[in-house]
Amino acid sequence: MMEGTNQPQISRRDALRVAAGFCGLTLLAAGARTANAAPAPPSAITTLKNGRVRVNLRRVRALRKIGGVATIGSVRGVPAAVVRTGANTYVALNLRCTHQGAEVRETSSGWSCPLHGSTFAKTGARTNGPAQVALAQLRVVRRKSALTIG
Ligand code: FES
Repeated sequence: MMEGTNQPQISRRDALRVAAGFCGLTLLAAGARTANAAPAPPSAITTLKNGRVRVNLRRVRALRKIGGVATIGSVRGVPAAVVRTGANTYVALNLRCTHQGAEVRETSSGWSCPLHGSTFAKTGARTNGPAQVALAQLRVVRRKSALTIG
């Protein structure tokens, strides 16, 4: 308490903790705004007995256009996304950063790692370190209107 007032005194340490918490919340909110990969609806995803994932393309609106991206949850234990790269071509990405394994987040230009700032193009190519290599790709097999990933 300060002399002559009834105001509680806040220590410098407590003030810094409050400020750090506010900054963290602000960054989380900013991250939520920049993440725009549409998750594929659960009805479009089937996890097979072998751990692979089947994606019904008819049910994933985000993949109707070239350049579209849809996250598909976990494939054999890794977070994954599908990117439509052409009229009949798709790439599936392992969303674990190739630097130290944090899960990357989609940005307006591709993917960004929240841990140390590596960036990747939408198709997974490395655009900035510290990661040295591209995001790993998962095997994709297309049969009619379905992709099997993994
Ligand atoms: S873990 Fe992604 S940049 Fe380090």
